[in-house]
Amino acid sequence: MKAWVRGAVIAVTAASTVAAFAACGQGAGNDSGGGSGPKIGVLLPDATTARWETQDRPLLERKIKELCDDCTVENANAKGDVALQQAQMNSMITEGVDAVVLVAVDARSLRPAVRKVAEADIPVIAYDRLAQGPISGYVSFDGEEVGRLQGRALLKAMGDTVSGGRIVMMNGDPSDPNAMSFKKGALSVLDGKVEITKAYDTRDWSTEIAHMNMSGAISALGVGNIQGVYAANDGLAAGSVSALKANKVNPLPPVTGQDAELGALRRIVAGEQYMTVYKPFGPEASAGAALAVAAARGESLDRIAKDKVRTSSGNTVPAVLLTPVSVTVDTIKDTVVKDGVHTIQQICTPQLDAACTKAGLT
Ligand code: BGC
Repeated sequence: MKAWVRGAVIAVTAASTVAAFAACGQGAGNDSGGGSGPKIGVLLPDATTARWETQDRPLLERKIKELCDDCTVENANAKGDVALQQAQMNSMITEGVDAVVLVAVDARSLRPAVRKVAEADIPVIAYDRLAQGPISGYVSFDGEEVGRLQGRALLKAMGDTVSGGRIVMMNGDPSDPNAMSFKKGALSVLDGKVEITKAYDTRDWSTEIAHMNMSGAISALGVGNIQGVYAANDGLAAGSVSALKANKVNPLPPVTGQDAELGALRRIVAGEQYMTVYKPFGPEASAGAALAVAAARGESLDRIAKDKVRTSSGNTVPAVLLTPVSVTVDTIKDTVVKDGVHTIQQICTPQLDAACTKAGLT
């Protein structure tokens, strides 16, 4: 029996009230104040992609507290290190958490760690990335649709240069199953329409490696011979754009992205990046929190998760699958600004004053 449930049962026995027991059994357990309720571990993969620490972490924490005011949250960030995430998962077992929200650094390598956590009777909710092993639930976006949105936007932005146009593909880290889905979706749109002259898989989704790869592509292909860049996320877009600029590529080719990072929105307003894919953080965190709280209380996840996903082990688990949104300069205001992800003030630095006015970001 989990510590917090055990505590609740003892308290109830002392009070001898059946009604109170029913409340604790449902995990309400609020009478013992903060800290005595379920513990939820939130394990994030790295600190290089802005979203995890600036969006997902605070939102998950807030939503968990909203649903369960006596829940406590144990935080960990693996800094892109598989061994560190393994150790963090072991610590979650030792600390006796009641559920884990996991963004796996590397789905396959973390499989034994997921199994160990599940065997300790701790449900694992795979957050954004489909972890391997015996997970209990999953929340994410349709990854192939992300890739299709990026691919379609790139073709649109390339306009007349599509036919015979050469593009460079900056894909994500292959140990992240999402990277494969993004690539697959993008290729389903791009194949046969453009020439993919160079394609890179980028370890750790690293901006620096993307910069290096783009510099290499420019040397190999020549300045002026790249008509478009498929970058799987905004970090890879940042590395690609900085390399294009350092090599004096002018005009810059259209570049895609993902995550609606502040830097990406500024590049979009400045005309240095064509688009980003916005995957609303609020609904994802809400679903992640609801699944984790329900799992920690031993409740069924089917009420929250209407979809299903097949895991690597061939099991089907409850899933929440959300819809990604393509964002260009014309839609920043109606999407990320409207949802309060970033304010116009944050996006529009003094240097972007004129561009922001032109884009209607006032
Ligand atoms: C997420 C992206 C993120 C990338 C790098 C992917 O699994 O879906 O939103 O940009 O990881 O952290």
